[in-house]
Amino acid sequence: MISELEKYRTADSSKVTNWYKAATVDSFPEDGGACIKYKDLQIAIFNFSRRNEWYACQNLCPHKMQMILSRGMIGSYEGDPKVACPFHKKTFSLKSGKNLNGDTCDIATYPIKVEDGFVYVGFED
Ligand code: FES
Repeated sequence: MISELEKYRTADSSKVTNWYKAATVDSFPEDGGACIKYKDLQIAIFNFSRRNEWYACQNLCPHKMQMILSRGMIGSYEGDPKVACPFHKKTFSLKSGKNLNGDTCDIATYPIKVEDGFVYVGFED
């Protein structure tokens, strides 16, 4: 499953070959997330409005393989943005995807940008 999630992923926004037009900015709640589909992937997008930042990561929580992270609680850990899975509170960095609990695997994160009222997620096809 993780290899599927890595299929179109690039950590480096300069390597993006497809900026996918996900939805309008107002499709995403302030300080919350929503899920979009890109090909066979579910991507969680977060409008972290109190930081004035946006993040994208896999929607799949690797702990029990639940498609749920877009419904997670966002916050900060040592200044970095994070999301906590609503099921068992496993926590992941929204920048690096690192599992901050150190007890399950990391998640994929994706480049994201906002232009002219639309949110775009970057993939390397
Ligand atoms: S399913 Fe996400 S923490 Fe358990």
